[in-house]
Amino acid sequence: MDKQINIVETLDWYLWAGVDEICADKVCLSENLEKKPAISYNSISKVTVQNTLSRPVHSNSTNLTALKNARDICAKVETLDELKSVMLAFDGCNLKDTAASTVFGDGSATAKIMLIGEAPGADEDRIGLPFVGRCGRLLDKMLAAIGFNRKECYITNVLPWRPPGNRTPTDDEIAVCLPFLKRQIELIHPDIILLLGGIALKAVMDCSDSISRTRGKWLEYSVENKNIQVLATYHPSYLLRSSAQKAKAWTDLLRLKRKIDELK
Ligand code: URA
Repeated sequence: MDKQINIVETLDWYLWAGVDEICADKVCLSENLEKKPAISYNSISKVTVQNTLSRPVHSNSTNLTALKNARDICAKVETLDELKSVMLAFDGCNLKDTAASTVFGDGSATAKIMLIGEAPGADEDRIGLPFVGRCGRLLDKMLAAIGFNRKECYITNVLPWRPPGNRTPTDDEIAVCLPFLKRQIELIHPDIILLLGGIALKAVMDCSDSISRTRGKWLEYSVENKNIQVLATYHPSYLLRSSAQKAKAWTDLLRLKRKIDELK
């Protein structure tokens, strides 16, 4: 029995590896596994689903060359379209190996308000746009509650690639993706940034304080000759799990609305 595939353990392993949905009818096994159906845990590491795990998985330590590359590439980019192209071509983040899409920002390139989330989830990874799943529907309602819609804003994430199984991104993954986000902020040049959740707060503001202590307070982010007003609030996925916190998010939204009116 222990030489046979144990379906429950195998699925459990897939989940652990971040493979939490089936994208194709057929699981693709590496050549060896096709010939040998009795597999052990070690050999399961060769299983790929729709080839998403077929590229070598990079080590998790900070890849300084990748970071330098990302910074150099971003410094040369002058438009959002160029930034999108270089991001699509960038191979310095291990998350790209398991993601189906590179999820770039979406919305108005001349938006006064920029929203920054954490990373694409399963729906965003499949569709290739930020905040289009359950969290996105809540975000749309939050914006509508203060008289806005997503087309008037620019919405993006700290990471353009979905971490397997929606795990929390590592500091190294955040660091290597940050130059792309910072360049997006410079190119959009918004008046206001709304940070959704603790990862966006930590990445953009380099803030080690928790989201629960920092949310609702105005902060500043300096680009070129402008101080962008920054507000952090709870991430919609947290609000979906903890609806008792929605009242606090509502006060943050009202604060955001007041600032938007002030800056008009
Ligand atoms: N959560 C995020 O942080 N970003 C998305 O795009 C979707 C869910």
